[in-house]
Amino acid sequence: MQFPFIEQMKLGSRLEAAVPKDKIGDVKVMNNEYDNEKFFEEYAKMSRSKEGLKAAGEWHQLKPLFPSLEGKSVLDLGCGYGWHCKFAEEQGATKILGIDLSKKMIEEAQKRNSGNQIEYRISGLEEYDYPENEWDCVISNLALHYIEDIVEIFQKVYRTLKPGGIFLFNIEHPVFTAGVGQDWIYTDDGKPQYWAIDNYFITGERNTHFLGCDVVKQHHTLTQIIMGLLNNGFELKVVEEAEPPKEMMDIPGMEDELRRPMMLLVKAIAKK
Ligand SMILES: C[S@@+](CC[C@H](N)C(=O)[O-])C[C@H]1O[C@@H](n2cnc3c(N)ncnc32)[C@H](O)[C@@H]1O
Repeated sequence: MQFPFIEQMKLGSRLEAAVPKDKIGDVKVMNNEYDNEKFFEEYAKMSRSKEGLKAAGEWHQLKPLFPSLEGKSVLDLGCGYGWHCKFAEEQGATKILGIDLSKKMIEEAQKRNSGNQIEYRISGLEEYDYPENEWDCVISNLALHYIEDIVEIFQKVYRTLKPGGIFLFNIEHPVFTAGVGQDWIYTDDGKPQYWAIDNYFITGERNTHFLGCDVVKQHHTLTQIIMGLLNNGFELKVVEEAEPPKEMMDIPGMEDELRRPMMLLVKAIAKK
């Protein structure tokens, strides 16, 4: 199985997306692979983990979508290692909060991407309080496909954005999340033959498997995502499907990433 474009995300998925079961204090934590040292070793080997945003296949498309952040406040939902929080600080943001359900990811963020303007907090997207009119910009990269009720999060994001605030996110594409086993169908000699989609309109839980780990993700249709925004006060500014950049095309298997969309990038503005 080769997914050079998405490898890190799939690995991330397996790290963090298992069903929350335990609690530490009042924070839900995942009873899953990211507590597994071996798994974290593998995760840390990914180029995205080692090199940050420049090694992320979607970055060449996501970066230009950021609004000016000079003097702005930024909330990052599912911040992981905190790369986007650090980027926001470098762009002049003066108040940045990265939240993530994973204690280990937050610890990594504090180690790798701390900053005077940045606070990291262990919190599920579902538990954060989303204070009214608090943030100029809310970002979320590759975390929303772990959320069952995505429309509820859209409503909360709308509430917490200031009038005219920007919501910028990257989510696994519905074509990808509806993929059978979220993997290719292979030829007998192991080549990706096609990407099968099934049960597209049956939304919700998808059980996936990667690096020996079981991970639960959530499938949302395109209608749910787009209409979920439009019905809740957002105006769409940009919708893009991530394609790997030319510079990455010599990576083995990368050309297959042009055969189906894997990530959906959306920029929306809160009309108030
Ligand atoms: C693939 S990683 C992406 C991390 C980071 N946004 C990035 O792009 O580098 C997905 C992140 O979402 C977090 N996550 C998953 N479900 C979550 C939830 N319900 N609440 C908060 N964070 C969650 C995971 O812990 C993980 O850090």
